[in-house]
Amino acid sequence: MCGIFGCALKNGKAAPLIHAALKRLEYRGYDSVGEATIQNGILNIKKDQGKIDDVHKAIDLDNLPGNIGIGHTRWATHGAPYQVNAHPHTDCENKIAVVHNGIIENFSEIKKELEGLGHEFRSKTDTEVIPHLIEENMKKGMSLVEAVRDSLKRLSGSYAIAVLSNIEPDKIVVARNESPLVIGVGEEATYCASDITAFLPLTNRTVILENGELSVLEADKYEIWNIDDWKPVKREPEQVTWTTEMAQKQGYPHFMIKEIYEQPRCLRDTLRLQDLYLDLMATFLDRAGEVFLVAAGTSYHACLAASYMFSDLAFLATHPVIASEFIEQEGMAININSTILAVSQSGETADTLAAVDYARNRAATILGLTNAVGSTLTRISRVYIVQQSGPEIGVAATKTFTSQMSVLAQLALRVSKIRGKIGHRQIEELEKSVNQIPDIVEATIKKNESKVLDVVKKLKKKPVFFFLGRGISSATAQEARLKLMEIAYVPSIAYPAGESKHGPISLVEPGFPVVFVCPRDETRKTIVGNIMEMKARGASIISVIEEGDEEIKSLSDEYFEVPGSLPEILTPIAFIVPLQQLAYYMAVEKGLNPDMPRNLAKSVTVK
Ligand code: M6R
Repeated sequence: MCGIFGCALKNGKAAPLIHAALKRLEYRGYDSVGEATIQNGILNIKKDQGKIDDVHKAIDLDNLPGNIGIGHTRWATHGAPYQVNAHPHTDCENKIAVVHNGIIENFSEIKKELEGLGHEFRSKTDTEVIPHLIEENMKKGMSLVEAVRDSLKRLSGSYAIAVLSNIEPDKIVVARNESPLVIGVGEEATYCASDITAFLPLTNRTVILENGELSVLEADKYEIWNIDDWKPVKREPEQVTWTTEMAQKQGYPHFMIKEIYEQPRCLRDTLRLQDLYLDLMATFLDRAGEVFLVAAGTSYHACLAASYMFSDLAFLATHPVIASEFIEQEGMAININSTILAVSQSGETADTLAAVDYARNRAATILGLTNAVGSTLTRISRVYIVQQSGPEIGVAATKTFTSQMSVLAQLALRVSKIRGKIGHRQIEELEKSVNQIPDIVEATIKKNESKVLDVVKKLKKKPVFFFLGRGISSATAQEARLKLMEIAYVPSIAYPAGESKHGPISLVEPGFPVVFVCPRDETRKTIVGNIMEMKARGASIISVIEEGDEEIKSLSDEYFEVPGSLPEILTPIAFIVPLQQLAYYMAVEKGLNPDMPRNLAKSVTVK
């Protein structure tokens, strides 16, 4: 999730405006920054790795001439956060500059083709294919706009782009597919940006660019077309009344709920990971003597769920271990045959890194799954995968949890394929289901929003909650408990449902809230028995069920439905969602700030 900005001004200097706008977009990414402007037919570029303030101190981002320009603040997806990978990227002759937010899935194949035609690439990014494609098209005699349009037809994946060229120096060409892009209409100035935040102090008149649309911006006008049929689109600016802070949250009151709503997009992005790295990691896992899944907090819950996935799909036994316990629990057993798959959103969690460090010193193989390119975890892993969720600002992990599980499920499927453990047809069915998850999550969020609010009103005074699930759903229950505790400060207990009768059931008395995670899977029959046990003791039953599960509905006081049917192994990705919403609204109802729970930090860098 990078931030892009562009401005075409009748008068004045573009660079200081770009710099200030990128600062407002910094929450979208902050590992490198760059700008391009044009003056007197010359395209000027400044870019470097590092935070905007540091880069500005070193190379003065305001000091670029010209009244038209584009800029970018980066959250690395392809290619580490080095100067050469910072945007803007250019063609061979430095005549076309492009900034991009998104992921180009088929960049390797396009790059190979363009290299064959003599194009020279400088970076490791997916983005760089875009200026070279445009260059190739312009060589054939196309105008800038035609060349951009034709290039876009070659791309699969997600993008919001802004293109600047000294061949047609008065224009910025922008386009989007899935990644956001808005146009700002000012007095004798036109802007484009990843979100309204960027230009809000300059204008509040905005035009949203829709998927599949391209727009040409000049200082005094903007025009929009549909990329496919090239029909012009007429769209008048609308006046927004947001403050900058509201705009950063895209109108949501908190980052946490914005991030809950972002999950379908993030999950779609996990379906665009590079096959090369998924296959490589799957090969390491397949060949491992023994596999330890090491993580903290929410990432540990993803590992717990993953242990069911690897066992069920790939017949691979893995040990999920809480990072801070790893050395004591498993330390002496680690050796050259051990493989550690460390999972960490930030890639900087001290407990996880300490476990990894220890294992490295005992010659174990380190694999990493993280959301932060360039993080310590990426630097010390033999192979790493970046889950592509974009920055998560809310302290509570939400979108990064569901994305971690999507990546881990894809990995388990690949190991399964290598091992030939399950039938071809079943693999295909599972792959189909993985692809359906973003839509199912989207529908789940919408379906439960008002229901959750209703349940929160009824249960807000309950002092304790109990979360139960069987099989892989016991990981969902653990994660739901963590969310409610850390955000709403409600003491909560989570257990595998079968274990509840071995002790914690003694807590239950009339009205005690027990949340059951019950997908329609193999554990269902037994979980119905567990629900009955709790009901017999007067518990108030709240269930998360597959839509239309009348039996469990009839046993529940409250229920949240997940539309569509998922194989057991994928259910945590959707079934956690209403429980994230529950935690969020419970916190809000109690007057707490869910983005900044007390005593917590987003990344825990102390042991
Ligand atoms: O960055 P990491 O995934 O390594 O972070 C691990 C935990 O600190 C993190 O998941 C924490 O538990 C969150 N507060 C959960 O919402």
